Amino acid sequence: MTKPVDPLGLPAEVFFERFRGESLTFDDLCILQPRTIDFGVQEVDLSSRITRNILINSPLVSSPMEDISEYELAIAVALQGFPAVIHYNMTIEEQVEQVRKVKRFENGFVKDPITLGPSDTIAKAVEIRNQTGISTLPIADGGRLVGLLTKNDYSGRKHAEMTVAERMVPLEGLGHQIVRDDELPEEDTARLSRANDLLLESHAGVLLIVNGSGAIESLVTRTDIEKNEAFPDSIKDRHKSLVVGAAVTTSLGETRERAAALVSAGVDFLCIDSSHGNSSHEKAALEYLKAEHPDIDVIYGNVATAGGAIRGIEWGADAIRVGKGVGSICSTSQVSLGTRSQITATYSCARAVREYCSEKGIEPRIPVISDGGYATFSAIGKGLLFADAVMLGSMLAGTDEAPGAIIYDRQGRKLKSYKGMGSLEAVVRGSAARYDVQNFDDYVAEGVVGTVRSKGPVSQWVPQIKTGIRKCLQSLGYRSLEELHQAVFSGEILIERMSEAGKKEAGIHDLVEYRRDLPLD
Ligand code: IMP
Repeated sequence: MTKPVDPLGLPAEVFFERFRGESLTFDDLCILQPRTIDFGVQEVDLSSRITRNILINSPLVSSPMEDISEYELAIAVALQGFPAVIHYNMTIEEQVEQVRKVKRFENGFVKDPITLGPSDTIAKAVEIRNQTGISTLPIADGGRLVGLLTKNDYSGRKHAEMTVAERMVPLEGLGHQIVRDDELPEEDTARLSRANDLLLESHAGVLLIVNGSGAIESLVTRTDIEKNEAFPDSIKDRHKSLVVGAAVTTSLGETRERAAALVSAGVDFLCIDSSHGNSSHEKAALEYLKAEHPDIDVIYGNVATAGGAIRGIEWGADAIRVGKGVGSICSTSQVSLGTRSQITATYSCARAVREYCSEKGIEPRIPVISDGGYATFSAIGKGLLFADAVMLGSMLAGTDEAPGAIIYDRQGRKLKSYKGMGSLEAVVRGSAARYDVQNFDDYVAEGVVGTVRSKGPVSQWVPQIKTGIRKCLQSLGYRSLEELHQAVFSGEILIERMSEAGKKEAGIHDLVEYRRDLPLD
């Protein structure tokens, strides 16, 4: 341990011992700067782990909520380096389709692409485009590739009644766009890189890969290459598709079927979504999932105590989600017990998980996700002192890609609706299992329906959040989360409790008026 920079601050372990019996949160903490800053903000590396086996490039995850995590937001955030967890307030088929849309979005090779036959109508191509967003369609006849139809080949209005054969570019016109699979290297990365090179040289928008008998095997598109170049932080699976998770309930009957369908659609991880974790229902669901789908990582929660977190690991969890009664739309603290202020909960769980994993030799360590209550960049920075990732609700609900409805208030400000999964409105539609609802007659809502300020597209808003997190690490002198955690748990970072007067001083004060142009105002 290096020499402490100040005699008054306390290492995390001593600090939380000193406030034993008190539930503290973000604004209660002052974090002292232990190191000299000798690097720029953009040099901070934000990579982390969301579950035991899944690496991410930004230490965030979007919450499985109706007004947040559907495919549009899932794609946008995966391009920014972190995954979304698609919520379960929809049928199994709908949730599977959401996952498919994310997985199809950016493939290196689009395997088994959707095809049409020459006698199909253009109207059918339009229907596929409307439903899936896919407009590049290889045309197959008797298993052989005979042409290609793209959005440049037809007008949905003018050619709807015509056949595909009348509008497609036939095989003879596609020579430079076709390659046989045995002409590409076998190894995955070299194969994709060669295919990309061929495509970039071809002047075309798509390269078609066929097998020895002339059947279409896969394709690579120019748009995908461009997307790759524009989003260097994007997170992908080994097939080069974006990473996405999905929520399942604690109710085993339904979860069996839902999980099986999600896994076959290619979901990367599952999250058992329960507001009151550490329950026998959730244990049964987790044990079932780990036995049936051992290769799929599962997030377990929500817990707020060290004991709850350790039990999750003993039952098979690949990540622990921490947070009870702290979400912005959450009324759980007013209607039940078991809640805890977020910083004490996160520290206590993270420390227990760390100690347990090192004692049992669990490598890599099970990540801890701190979920709920995050409304400023410094709050995220404080959560990440202890957690591996922070789960966001309200901070993403205002983005253009979030599915919540747009509303204008009396001053003409653009807002978006954002409701709790425990609000009556959401529970009726499906999240009953999250709140263990047996009977709607006496249901006590654990969440409210509200609005948040519109934030614009994810591609503009999330980079600000990432810079905010980088600034938090840089302001203490750390270049990565790993370095930060090492310093927190070795006692290098010192903490003090902020007084009520200190909190006032930390806000903007003593001005007659000021322009509210902070990113979160
Ligand atoms: P936020 O980021 O502060 O808006 O909190 C989001 C988190 O609140 C979610 O990830 C859930 O853990 C939690 N949550 C979502 N809906 C409800 C609810 O209706 N009641 C209580 N907690 C909720």
